[in-house]
Parts: sequence; structure tokens; C-alpha cells
Amino acid sequence: MVFMITCLIGFMLFKASPRSGIVKLVQLNNGHYIPAIGLGTWTMDDKEAREAIKMAVKIGYRHVDTAWRYHNEKGVGQALKDLILDKVIARNDIFITTKVWNTFHGRELAVQAIKESLANLGLDYLDLALIHWPTGFKAGTDDIYPRKSDGSIMPSDFSLIDTWKGMEDLFRQGLAKSIGVSNFNIKQLQRVLNEASIKPSVNQFETHPFLAQQELVDFCHNNSIAVIAYSPLRQADKELLNNPVLKNIALKYNKTVAQVALRWQIDRNVIIIAKSSRKERQMENINIFDFKLEDQEIKQITALNQNNRLIDIPGIQNHPEYPFDN
Ligand SMILES: NC(=O)c1ccc[n+]([C@@H]2O[C@H](COP(=O)([O-])OP(=O)(O)OC[C@H]3O[C@@H](n4cnc5c(N)ncnc54)[C@H](OP(=O)(O)O)[C@@H]3O)[C@@H](O)[C@H]2O)c1
Repeated sequence: MVFMITCLIGFMLFKASPRSGIVKLVQLNNGHYIPAIGLGTWTMDDKEAREAIKMAVKIGYRHVDTAWRYHNEKGVGQALKDLILDKVIARNDIFITTKVWNTFHGRELAVQAIKESLANLGLDYLDLALIHWPTGFKAGTDDIYPRKSDGSIMPSDFSLIDTWKGMEDLFRQGLAKSIGVSNFNIKQLQRVLNEASIKPSVNQFETHPFLAQQELVDFCHNNSIAVIAYSPLRQADKELLNNPVLKNIALKYNKTVAQVALRWQIDRNVIIIAKSSRKERQMENINIFDFKLEDQEIKQITALNQNNRLIDIPGIQNHPEYPFDN
């Protein structure tokens, strides 16, 4: 596999394969680079993840997003093992993210959780380890959603800062090259920034044209925290994929609505992870680096915002760290 790395005003581009074209690389606050598009794997089981990732890497993807909670880290690891054995890629050609689940909050538990994820993945380091949610759950109950009798979640005994210290420990131990958070709001990020010895490199959260989250995006960027958009297609929401504003822009560039929704994120410096198990859609989603939206079009898409959130966890709304009130 031949890599062509070119430096272009502030960011890098790489040509991963003849079919993928040029993919932008974004530099994190610690100097490491992350490909601006990754493959999401939520809802894939081990077998599906193994096949989908092998397909995606052959198309040109070099970034995979998983989590302990997705129960597919072993399948992700199998795909990597196959690809490395077949000499399609080397370990350091691909960016792998996983996440510390809510029942593993706390300084020591977070490190243990990442060690377990690394064992599942068959890797000795991650490119990125994230705290999956700010809402820690009670540890050690054997239930990944430990609930009280009224259905509400039992919170963790540890603070966010304890868990962040665990993230710093695993970074220092070389278990992850970068560390970050997911689903954190501005106040939670500010608390981490105030206490951290190592600043988070990333906040991963839901954003798509119906949930622009511009204030949170701006806060992250102003604090040198990269943004990763999850559910960037709002899980193939029909209303989104048929939106007339997006359709018009897609027509102009001879692209699909999905490609325009993804390119909007790239043009506001947001990294995307889109999930697809189908080759045609994986190709469609990565083929967004040969056009660029005009400022007016970026504004038009941002104005589609309806604060329309898809992802939440039932029973966490009374959790002291529930992130979505403010
Ligand atoms: N940190 C967090 O809390 C969190 C939460 C949610 C998600 N995530 C991560 O973000 C990733 C992406 O989010 P997501 O999976 O929720 O949603 P998504 O990527 O917005 O959408 C995935 C859905 O869209 C379909 N799809 C993909 N490309 C398409 C295209 N070009 N046209 C039409 N349909 C298309 C897929 O079906 P096919 O597979 O059949 O193509 C799948 O049903 C996840 O997989 C996960 O890795 C993180």
C-alpha cells in the first residue's frame, strides 16, 4: 500500500488507495494526526465488524471507532489481525479509538477498562481512548446499566476528574497515544480543562445538520480540542436525506445528500465517523474530498439546526452529570 503524504497549509492529506482519493488528516493538540473520516461500528457484531472493517480499509479508510460497550472489539481486532497478516496495512497505518464504559469510571477502573479493551482488540496501544459518557454508573454490579427500582441509573462513586486522572495515567503508560472525552458539555469540558495535567485532545458528540451544536464546536476549537461527529447522518434519517436545502446543494456538486452532510462537517473542521457495513455506502461516504462547500452553503446547512438530538440513555436524565440540559 503506497501512501502519498502532502503538507497543505495547516493540515495533511493522504492518498490511501486509488479508490478513496485524498483524505484529510487533522492534527490533534499533541501533534498526532487523525484521519478526518472514520468508520463507525456501533450495532455491528464481531463478525460484521470484521468484514466491514476489512472492506473499508481496502477502500481507503484508516480510522475505526469502536467501544467496549459495542461488544465488537474482538471482531475489530480480528479484522486488524487479518489486514496486517495480509500486509494490507501495518498497525501504525490505522487509527483506532475505543471508549471507557460508564461502569468503569474512577482512576484505577478506567485504566483497567482500557487494558481489557486492548486485550479484546489484540493491540498494545490505542490511537485514542475516550471517556464514553460523563455519566459514571455504579461499578461492580455486573450490570452495565445498574438501575434503582424506579428505573433511574445508580451513579458512580467517582468524579469526572478521578476518571480523567485515570485517562492521564493510561496515556503516561503508553496505552493510548491520545486521550479525550465523549458526550461532554461545555461546563464539563471546562472542569476537566481546569484540573487536567494533560488536556483532552478530542470531544466526540452527536452532530448533524439537524443538531449543529455550533457553540460546543466553537468552544472545543477555541480550546484546541478536536471535534468528532457521531451519528453524522442521523442514522440515515429519511427527513435528513430528503431535506430540500441539502438536495439542492448535492445537485450542484453532483454529490449525494449524505456526502453533502458529511462534507459540511469537514468544512467546519469537524472529524466524522459514519457507520456503514455496505461497500457502496462506505465508498460514497469517503468520497467527499474532491469538493468544498462555499461559506454561504455552510451557513445554510448550519441554519437547518433544530436541536434535534437522537442519542440519549434512558434513566440518566437525573444523573448529576447528565450532559444535555445546558
Ligand atoms: N460516543 C458515543 O456516545 C456514540 C454514540 C453513537 C454513535 N457513536 C459512533 O458513531 C458512529 C456513527 O454513528 P451512527 O452509527 O449512530 O450513525 P450514522 O453513521 O449517522 O448512520 C449509520 C446508518 O446510516 C446508514 N448509512 C450509512 N451511510 C449511508 C449513506 N451514504 N446513505 C444512506 N444510509 C447510510 C447505515 O446503514 P448501512 O450500514 O446498512 O449502510 C446505518 O444504518 C457509530 O457507529 C459509533 O461508532 C458514538
